[in-house]
Amino acid sequence: MRGQFITFEGGEGAGKSTQVKALVARLRDQGFEVVQTREPGGSGGAEALRELLVTGEAGRWSPISETLMMYAARANHLEQTIRPALKRGAWVVCDRFSDSTRAYQGAGGGVSTAFIDHIDQSVVGKDQPDLTLILDMPVEAGLKRALSRGDNENRFESKGLDFHQRLRQGFIDRAATDPQRYHVVNADKTIPELGEDIWRIITGRWPALKGA
Ligand SMILES: Nc1ncnc2c1ncn2[C@@H]1O[C@H](COP(=O)(O)OP(=O)(O)OP(=O)(O)O)[C@@H](O)[C@H]1O
Ligand SMILES: [Mg+2]
Repeated sequence: MRGQFITFEGGEGAGKSTQVKALVARLRDQGFEVVQTREPGGSGGAEALRELLVTGEAGRWSPISETLMMYAARANHLEQTIRPALKRGAWVVCDRFSDSTRAYQGAGGGVSTAFIDHIDQSVVGKDQPDLTLILDMPVEAGLKRALSRGDNENRFESKGLDFHQRLRQGFIDRAATDPQRYHVVNADKTIPELGEDIWRIITGRWPALKGA
């Protein structure tokens, strides 16, 4: 049986990477094979592209260049990591996916929805996530969390507040297009509280997980 595909989305510092790790541990406790992965990245070629995308000056790449690079990386990630895992029945939990391109390059950067839809249909096709959690919180507080981490992956963080407001709204608008798949979660909570909110959504979608 094909595995389940879950993606985490949201702005900078919303707690995606923290909650991905917690959910993966919880699913593994139940005996599932779970592949934890991320974008941009998640495979050899895609991780090399990540380095180009997330470091350096904000103006290094235009939104259209970013879109094409994101989808080049995503094609490699799907081919080498995601599709083989789903095919053998593993769960895949991915830290960002296509909805980040829609929010950052689309809503934030002005690339048209029609263009992203078209390329997404060719690259991702039927392998769309089964469930997408959008971690939502005020932009400034999220950026503060992200900056406190002190890594060098701050190219997108360094874009203006306006940009981050647009992408926050972009995620919310996208979620409204498919309430079955998307869940917007208030991420302005403690790590364990947010983890419980997420687990409630997961067990709502897959009730068999609840008892274990
Ligand atoms: N609910 C929370 N409350 C307070 N701090 C948090 C919470 N969740 C995560 N953090 C801390 O905030 C920082 C950012 O968290 P994390 O890396 O999980 O966010 P992210 O959404 O993956 O960020 P990015 O978009 O930059 O990848 C980390 O230092 C993390 O420990
Ligand atoms: Mg992260």
